[in-house]
Amino acid sequence: MPNKKHLLIVAHNPSANTQKLVDATIRGANHEDIDGVEVRHIPPLQATPDDVLWADAIILGTTENFGYMSGALKDFFDRIYYPCLEHTEAMPFALYIRAGLDGTGTKTAVGKITTGLRWKAVQETIILHGEYDPKYEQQCEELGMLMAASLEAGII
Ligand SMILES: Cc1cc2nc3c(=O)[nH]c(=O)nc-3n(C[C@H](O)[C@H](O)[C@H](O)COP(=O)(O)O)c2cc1C
Repeated sequence: MPNKKHLLIVAHNPSANTQKLVDATIRGANHEDIDGVEVRHIPPLQATPDDVLWADAIILGTTENFGYMSGALKDFFDRIYYPCLEHTEAMPFALYIRAGLDGTGTKTAVGKITTGLRWKAVQETIILHGEYDPKYEQQCEELGMLMAASLEAGII
């Protein structure tokens, strides 16, 4: 299909469980019924301003570490903030957080930065906390599918 929309996934996956979460997100975004969207996963330490400028929508994924987003996602924001600030207003995005106990500090911190960027949250933040549950993968898969389907339909 020509003129595919672009969905960028920037997710930190330092453990086996968080790898499963990003795999599920990618799987959902690449659902067989969605052919109008190109999906890329680029880990936050590797993602550049050009990757963000490529995107029509973004899914962010992070662990909570010390009550904040992962250092990797923070590094991503540090590097893309000013190069993207004037070019990505209203970027549709979604966020999932894997946390041992909490996750709210990360949600607040990411929210401050995305507010500064004037990005537009198009899904409720998903906080996956407590003991790891395989159903979290289903939530991530649904998130990926929903974001890709919404992009394809032109509703985000
Ligand atoms: C250095 C470090 C700091 C962490 N800090 C927090 C924290 O402040 N709040 C929290 O809920 N979980 C915290 N965690 C737990 C991680 O969020 C969790 O282990 C991570 O998301 C990976 O999930 P998994 O154990 O299911 O692979 C921390 C983990 C590490 C290694």
